[in-house]
Amino acid sequence: YKADIAAKLDAVIRRVPNFPKPGVLFYDITSILADPESFRLVIDAMDQRYQKDDFDAVAAIEARGFVFAAPFAVHRGLPLILIRKAGKLPGETISQKISLEYGEDELHVHLTDVPENGRVLLVDDLIATGGTLSGAASLIRKAGGEVSDLFGVVGLPFLNYSDKLQDLEITTLVDYL
Ligand code: PRP
Repeated sequence: YKADIAAKLDAVIRRVPNFPKPGVLFYDITSILADPESFRLVIDAMDQRYQKDDFDAVAAIEARGFVFAAPFAVHRGLPLILIRKAGKLPGETISQKISLEYGEDELHVHLTDVPENGRVLLVDDLIATGGTLSGAASLIRKAGGEVSDLFGVVGLPFLNYSDKLQDLEITTLVDYL
């Protein structure tokens, strides 16, 4: 079942060589979104994977994480928390600096969105170095929540993201080596 899903997604994910910079092979998930059957496959696979999990909220990472987290949250009747880059959220926020492959960035979340001691599932489209999800997990904890599980549609394990994401349960649907 897992291998079948991975093969189906692999067949639709577009490869863009030399994007966003020379030498990088970009795995583009917009081709999943443009194919309703594949998009549904992702949401169904998330539902299946987390059948036995009792989350209090789903947190989504800007920008492409939003797309997959939102239908899952609606389907499961869970609150959706948006984690955004600096300057985007209008209310009172908590922030966390994140280290990216090149440089730094800052993630924010609305303080009132995170349930106190609530169990939060973190969702993004792709896990590369793990810097973004690691920072997002720290952010949710700072805001009073608990993070146990991380989800990415695509994983790039050759960038060793698990080093940065220890003690967290990581699920990806398709991995590129
Ligand atoms: C991409 C991707 C993840 C992150 C993964 O986001 O959507 O959020 O990088 O990389 P990491 O595991 O090395 O941290 P990007 O920064 O391109 O932002 P966007 O989705 O807003 O375009």
